[in-house]
Amino acid sequence: MRLRHIRHARIRPGTRVLVRVDFNVVIKEGRVLDDFRMREALLTLSYLIKRKCRIRIVGHLGRPGGRRVARLSLLPLAKHLAGLLDRRIQFIRDPLDQRAIDRYDGSRDILFFENLRFWPGEEKNNESFARALATWGDLYVNEAFSDIHRAHASMVALPKYIPGYAGFRLFDEVRFLGKARDIPARPCLVIFGGAKVSTKLPLIRKFLKVADRIIIAGAMANTVFLREGIEIGVSTAERDMDGVPPRAFFRNQKLLYPVDVVVMRGGVFARGRTRRVRIGALRSDDFIVDSGPRSIELFVKEAKRAKTVIWNGPLGYTDILRFQRGTRRFAEALSRMRSFRVVGGGETVAVLNRAKLVKKFSHVSTGGGAMLEFFMGKRFPALDALSLK
Ligand code: 3PG
Repeated sequence: MRLRHIRHARIRPGTRVLVRVDFNVVIKEGRVLDDFRMREALLTLSYLIKRKCRIRIVGHLGRPGGRRVARLSLLPLAKHLAGLLDRRIQFIRDPLDQRAIDRYDGSRDILFFENLRFWPGEEKNNESFARALATWGDLYVNEAFSDIHRAHASMVALPKYIPGYAGFRLFDEVRFLGKARDIPARPCLVIFGGAKVSTKLPLIRKFLKVADRIIIAGAMANTVFLREGIEIGVSTAERDMDGVPPRAFFRNQKLLYPVDVVVMRGGVFARGRTRRVRIGALRSDDFIVDSGPRSIELFVKEAKRAKTVIWNGPLGYTDILRFQRGTRRFAEALSRMRSFRVVGGGETVAVLNRAKLVKKFSHVSTGGGAMLEFFMGKRFPALDALSLK
């Protein structure tokens, strides 16, 4: 699929450009904890600023379900962005309010709108909601790859009313992830981490056809061990086995699992020291918090053999800094390799970001669910809306 790139849009000083971003990030007490997604939109925003466009920004945060939820206001994000761009930003609480249009439509300041998911029309892909938003712009730019799997009004219906383009970042996401998905140079290694094996199952099945090796680690591996009847203590796993395939599936020769893990006795929040334990030697009150050093060594060895590496999901319990060690060690080793390496998923990328490794990969995706669905080869109406006919 070829997308219309914003570089090819006819832009003049004063052109009103409506930019759809995805700043769905973690905010705590009004502070943005990880602004990776925001920084990745800066290239497009700076491009428009340089060309003296009047920028209007729309986006969402969380799942307010069509009503105003104070803690999901985008105001802290508008303030954070003002700092990143070193520009004044006007915050518009209601994009449908005629008085706001009369007052601000001609403004040269950047306008930043309240969370679109406060209005039911957004998630319903409502035409009249999209039409009302479209009155704010002459052009539309989508810079929200991580939301591309959602058929919402500001993603799909909006570019029917004003010409739509892909932002720099969105364009690159489709290019790099498309390359990894369609013609991965072999050998190809895929690493899946994170919590649930059942949700990533369709992807594991898909990559079993094209990849040479697939590593399953993190809490996902716990479910596999449990399926095999291997002791995992009180660790996180899909204990009801709902949607988890039979043992035979996980014995596929292409699949590889941790050989050792780091555990805490009693649970993830328990006090005390961690221990390294080989798989098969856990106690009934152990809680797996990370992949062990032997496993990481093994994973790195596999990665060194590969020409394409695709990685999604952490290898341990990354919410707690001291349990990010395995993920971080693997990321550091991978960052020094020269193969084609793409990484995605919120928690994995947060670790890379903290370790300042993002720039050392071929591509680090802003998408979590979007990246996985993209790899599944799903068709996205939000991308169709930007494609060259
Ligand atoms: C994301 O963070 O993955 C996107 O913003 C989509 O969010 P959603 O899963 O709430 O639709």
